[in-house]
Amino acid sequence: MKKKQPKTKTRPPAKLIAKKQPIPQSKKQTDQKQVIQKIQLPPEEKSGQQAPIEQKKPESFFKNLPFHNKTPEQEKKTPETPAMQKKTEPALQEKTTSPAAPAKEEEKKQPAQDTVTKEVFEKLLKKEDMPEAAKDETIIESYEFKSKDIPLLINIKKVSTDFVPIYEVKISSISKTTEFILEKIRQEIIRKVNLGLIDLADIKKTELIEDKFKQTIESLVGKYFPDVSDETKGFLTSYLTAKALGLGIIELLMDDAQLEEIVINQAAEPIWVYHKRHGWLKTTLYLQSEEQIRHYAAIIGRRVGRQISVLEPLLDAHLNEGDRANATLTPISTAGNTITLRKFSRDPWTITKFIKSRTISLEAAALIWMAMEFEMSAIIAGGTASGKTSALNVLANFFPPNQRIISIEDTREIRLPKYLHWVPMNTRLPNAEGKGEISMEHLLVNSLRMRPDRILVGEVRRRKEAETLFEAIHTGHSVYATFHANNAEEAVQRLTNPPIDVPKIMLPAISLIIVQFRNRRTGSRRTFQIAEILPDATPHVLLQYDYKLDSLVWVDKSKSLFDNLRLYTGYSDKEINQSLQEKQKILNYLIKNNIESVDDVGRVIAEYYTNKAHLLALASKGKLLEDNNAS
Ligand SMILES: Nc1ncnc2c1ncn2[C@@H]1O[C@H](COP(=O)(O)OP(=O)(O)O)[C@@H](O)[C@H]1O
Ligand SMILES: [Mg+2]
Repeated sequence: MKKKQPKTKTRPPAKLIAKKQPIPQSKKQTDQKQVIQKIQLPPEEKSGQQAPIEQKKPESFFKNLPFHNKTPEQEKKTPETPAMQKKTEPALQEKTTSPAAPAKEEEKKQPAQDTVTKEVFEKLLKKEDMPEAAKDETIIESYEFKSKDIPLLINIKKVSTDFVPIYEVKISSISKTTEFILEKIRQEIIRKVNLGLIDLADIKKTELIEDKFKQTIESLVGKYFPDVSDETKGFLTSYLTAKALGLGIIELLMDDAQLEEIVINQAAEPIWVYHKRHGWLKTTLYLQSEEQIRHYAAIIGRRVGRQISVLEPLLDAHLNEGDRANATLTPISTAGNTITLRKFSRDPWTITKFIKSRTISLEAAALIWMAMEFEMSAIIAGGTASGKTSALNVLANFFPPNQRIISIEDTREIRLPKYLHWVPMNTRLPNAEGKGEISMEHLLVNSLRMRPDRILVGEVRRRKEAETLFEAIHTGHSVYATFHANNAEEAVQRLTNPPIDVPKIMLPAISLIIVQFRNRRTGSRRTFQIAEILPDATPHVLLQYDYKLDSLVWVDKSKSLFDNLRLYTGYSDKEINQSLQEKQKILNYLIKNNIESVDDVGRVIAEYYTNKAHLLALASKGKLLEDNNAS
C-alpha cells in the first residue's frame, strides 16, 4: 500500500488532518475529547518559542510534575525527500521530520502528528489542567505499575456520561522540560542514524538499525542527563525507545498485568481494554490516525517476519513472549484498521489460586490430583473463555518431576513449573505461499516420537487431532486436552459424532471429563462438573456445581474411576482415602502459606513425589520448604 503513495506526498498527509478535524464535533464525543479541544495553550507556547534548556537538576522534573502545554511535537513538519518516503515506515519517517520550526497557530488546532505516546500524553496532561468537569466520576479502583522503567498510574472510574467504565492512564513523571530535552535527543538520533538506508523487506537489517537506534538513544540520554540516577536513565531510554520504535502506549499497556486484551477498533474510538476484574473498559487513549494503526500492525508483522498489506489485510501472529496479535485493515474491517492483542498470562493459574478463588473445592482438587498422579487421561471441556486452558495449566501442577511432558498449542498459553521435564511446542500457520504449515496433528504425531509420558493438547477441534490423540492414549501415554463443550454430556456427544466422530469404543480411554464454566451473570468461573466415562462411553457425573452453595457437591457414587484407581495402584479403598486426605493436607498447606506462583507450587508438588515424609512433616508444623520463598 505504501508503495502506491504518490511520491510527492508530504507527511503528515493532509487528508488525515482534514479527516481528523471534524470528528470530535460531529461525533457525540463524551467528555475529555471535547474539553481538550477547547483548552487554550499557555501564552508563551503560542508564540512558538521553545523554552531554553537549563542545566537544572533533572531529577526534580520527575517528581510528579504534571505535564502540560504544547510540546515540541506540535512543530511544523517539513516534507520528506521522495526516496525517504518510499523506503521508510511512518514511525521512522516521523523521526526524519524536522522539528526545528516553531509551531504555527493553525497547527495547534490539529492533533499533534507524532507517535501515539506523545498525543496521548498531551491529552492526559491537558486533562489535568481541566477545571472541575461537569460530570460525576467515581473511582472504582486505582493502582500503579511500571512498564519497563516508566511508572504509570491507572484510575478505573465510572463516569456519568458513559455506560462503560473508563480506564484512565496517567504518567506523571515526565515534565515539560524533560520532554523538551527528549525531543532534542530524538532530533539528534535522526542525524546519527541514517534511516534512509532501511530496507523493510530485510528483517535482519531492520533489527540491526533498531539495535543501533537503541544504543544511540542510550548514549544520548547519558549525555543530556549526566547527573540522573541509572533508574531515571533507564526510564528515559525506555520511554524514547517505545516512542520511536515500538508500539508506543500499547507497549506500556501490555505491562499491566490486570489486562487480558488490548484492542483498537479504529482511530476515532478510544483504545479498549479487557480488565481481569472489570471486564471491558474504554481507555482515555486514542491512536492518532488510521495510518498509525496500520503502521503498528506493520511493526507487529515485522517482528514475526510477516507482512500486512492490501493484498493480505489479515495478520495473526504469535509474539515472542506468547502474546498473540491480530490485525485487520480497511476495507475488510469496515470501520477502520483494527489490532487485537491478547496477552499471554505472565502469572499463570495454579491450584492454589483456583481453590482460593473458589473455582474448585479442595476435595475435588485432591481427587483430580489422585487421577493425575496415576496417569489417567482427562479432557477439560467448557465454553469459550470459560477457563479451559487455565484449568489445563492447573492440572499440570500435579505432574511428577521425573516424567517427560510435551505440550502442543496454537497459542502459547501453558506454563509449567520449572522443575518439570517439559518441552513446549507451538503450531505454525502457513506462509503467504501456503507453505510451511505445522499443524496440531503434525505435532501430535511428532510428539509420539519424542518419548513423552504425558501430552498436553490445547484445544482439540478436528477429527484428525482427536484420532491421533486417542491413538496416543492407546499407545500408553496420558493425554490432557481442552475441548469446546458446555457439559460432560455434550463433550461426549460432540466427540463421538461427526465431524469429529471418534469411535465410541475408544472413549473410555479418557478417565475424567472436567467441565469449566463461566457464569454469564456474575462473570465468575467455576468447575462445573467432574465426570467419569463408563465402559459404554456414557459420561457419569460425580461432582456437580451447586449454585446455592457455590461449590461442587457429590451427586453420585463412582462406577469406574475408583475401580480403575484400585486396578492401577493395588490400593484398597482405605489406602485411596488416605492418599486423598494426604493430598488435601498439602493443598491446605499451599493455601495457608500463600504458595501460589507456578514455580513455588511446582516445588512443593515435586517434593511430594520425591520426599513425601519430609513434606508432610513440614506441613504439620506449618513450615516452608528450605528453598520455597513464598511468604
Ligand atoms: N478460575 C478462574 N477464575 C477467574 N478467572 C479465570 C479463571 N480461569 C480462567 N480465568 C480467566 O478467564 C480467561 C479465559 O481463560 P482461558 O483459560 O483462556 O479460557 P478458555 O481456554 O476456555 O478459552 C483468562 O483471562 C483467564 O485468566
Ligand atoms: Mg483456551
